[in-house]
Amino acid sequence: MRSLCLSVLLILLVSHSSGLSLPAGVDAELDTRAPTSAKNVIVQMFEWTWDSVAAECTNFLGPAGYGFVQVSPPQEHVTGTQWWTDYQPVSYTLTSKRGDRSQFANMITTCHAASVQVIADTIFNHMTGSDSGSGVAGSTYTHYVYPGIYQNQDFHHCGLEPGDDIVNYDNRLEVQTCELENLADLATDTEYVRSRLATYANDLLSLGVDGLRLDAAKHMASTDIANITSRFTRAPYITQEVIYGAGEPITPNEYTYIGWVSGTQANVFVTNHDTERNGNSLNNNSPSNTYVTAMIFSLAHPFGTPTILSSYTGFTDTDAGAPNGGAGTCTGTGGTNGWLCQHRWVAISGMVGFHNNVGSAALVNWVSPQSQQIAFGRGALGFVAINNADSDWTATFTTSLPAGSYCDVISGTSSSGKCTGLGFTVSGGTFSATVPARSAIAIHTGALGTGNGSGTGTSSVTIVFQETATTTFGENIFLVGSTAQLGSWDPDASIALSSAGYPTWSVSISMTADTAFDFKFIRKETDGSIVWESDPNRSATAPASGSTTVNTSWR
Ligand SMILES: *[C@@H]1O[C@H](CO)[C@@H](O)[C@H](O)[C@H]1NC(C)=O
Ligand SMILES: *[C@@H]1O[C@H](CO)[C@@H](O)[C@H](O)[C@H]1NC(C)=O
Ligand SMILES: *[C@@H]1O[C@H](CO)[C@@H](O)[C@H](O)[C@H]1NC(C)=O
Ligand SMILES: *[C@@H]1O[C@H](CO)[C@@H](O)[C@H](O)[C@H]1NC(C)=O
Repeated sequence: MRSLCLSVLLILLVSHSSGLSLPAGVDAELDTRAPTSAKNVIVQMFEWTWDSVAAECTNFLGPAGYGFVQVSPPQEHVTGTQWWTDYQPVSYTLTSKRGDRSQFANMITTCHAASVQVIADTIFNHMTGSDSGSGVAGSTYTHYVYPGIYQNQDFHHCGLEPGDDIVNYDNRLEVQTCELENLADLATDTEYVRSRLATYANDLLSLGVDGLRLDAAKHMASTDIANITSRFTRAPYITQEVIYGAGEPITPNEYTYIGWVSGTQANVFVTNHDTERNGNSLNNNSPSNTYVTAMIFSLAHPFGTPTILSSYTGFTDTDAGAPNGGAGTCTGTGGTNGWLCQHRWVAISGMVGFHNNVGSAALVNWVSPQSQQIAFGRGALGFVAINNADSDWTATFTTSLPAGSYCDVISGTSSSGKCTGLGFTVSGGTFSATVPARSAIAIHTGALGTGNGSGTGTSSVTIVFQETATTTFGENIFLVGSTAQLGSWDPDASIALSSAGYPTWSVSISMTADTAFDFKFIRKETDGSIVWESDPNRSATAPASGSTTVNTSWR
């Protein structure tokens, strides 16, 4: 694990390490909040409208085995196109850019019918950051007055900094009673505010919401949060945003007794909507497929409850709101209309199936023969090998899987007993495989089948692409083409080339023999934009056997 250089970010909300003494019965209560290990993958459908989430629950999320959908904040918020407008509440009327109350309720009913539970993003810490205005449902407000809801005395006026804004994160009182980026800071230490926030949360629970994400939890005293949650009509799943900063007095383990489970249970994610934009994590623009391989790792490892972010392109403008009016759209194994639909990517949805199939099975058969290469099993139910190196990793792996023919769920699926991607045969506790550079393979007992390539069972061959291209620091070369394996011309699904032999970029790919395909190389710029090679499209045919090298130069 140490040798795999991928940043998998963890939000640790663990119950017993805090040393706090818990009232009798709390353990049992926390257990009821823990998502089951059988189906606990959360997908964060960032900025999707309620109607589009409902449709995706039915069309994909339920059938693919996602356990929870985490949606944007549902309450009325300030107007504007930027994504963060959703995070500035104006009232607790359930009208937002994502839809109204009946659409929200319908989404919950529809997702439940597809066996997907719903987590709502909630903002207890603050209201708006502006002097005055009106919300998306028409409610008017000023910075400290929200008619019928909050008055001046319901906010902290910390008096510790000019403008009452948080400057010094080493001062606990300042972080929890001054204003986060000028957002009017609710006095969560007062009876009225506690009761009003609990009323809002209970309204969500009455509609069937199964879990809450507590935005900016670090900016509220954990005792204030515990007081609010103690008023809930039932115990939802809770995940809290507590961003740890080295040396700071406020630490995540202060919050863990409120609603989390023991030991290794935690909410883990590679990226969320904030870190996707602020550069603190991998994201869709990260080179060499690391964003995908990190998610594969988070879904393969037994630690915690994984969240997969499903989002949209547009990082050149980090404020940019949802495309397509917020109506999320996907097609096949990817997104359309500006949406990325990471939750549909073959490797991600394949690993959700893996994650559900292996459940709580122990981590076994760990190997890491060199830096950037790890492989491990999950009991006798699954096995994964992740290769973050720039060259293929060919090995015979020891596995606890029973003998049989398995489909690789990274490159394809199992369909009527055939593999649409690679297939591997386990015999006598071992199997041989070539794990492609900067990629992974994963097999499990829930995806059996034979064959390689397009599921015909024909033999696979290797094509080495060698593209000579001069680049500047931060630019990377990718391969994209007409077959599903080559991303079906979608730059988001393209394959990274290694710069190890710069200026010759290379990658080695296993393909079904005799497959004809078109392709091009693309250059991803540091800002995420893409430059295509000039026309015409290149074309090639995989050989009947063995391997071949395709030598090209950027044009
Ligand atoms: C919650 O806070 C109120 C005061 O706002 C207090 O009276 C009550 O005892 C607290 N409840 C718990 C469970 O701490
Ligand atoms: C599929 O191809 C891989 C990679 O070439 C090979 O290791 C594996 O044995 C093949 N599986 C089958 C069932 O032909
Ligand atoms: C290359 O292939 C793409 C996808 O099929 C197609 O849209 C495009 O027109 C092709 N380019 C040329 C020059 O034929
Ligand atoms: C491509 O380059 C390699 C050496 O890098 C060479 O062995 C091979 O023959 C070349 N292939 C073609 C088709 O020119």
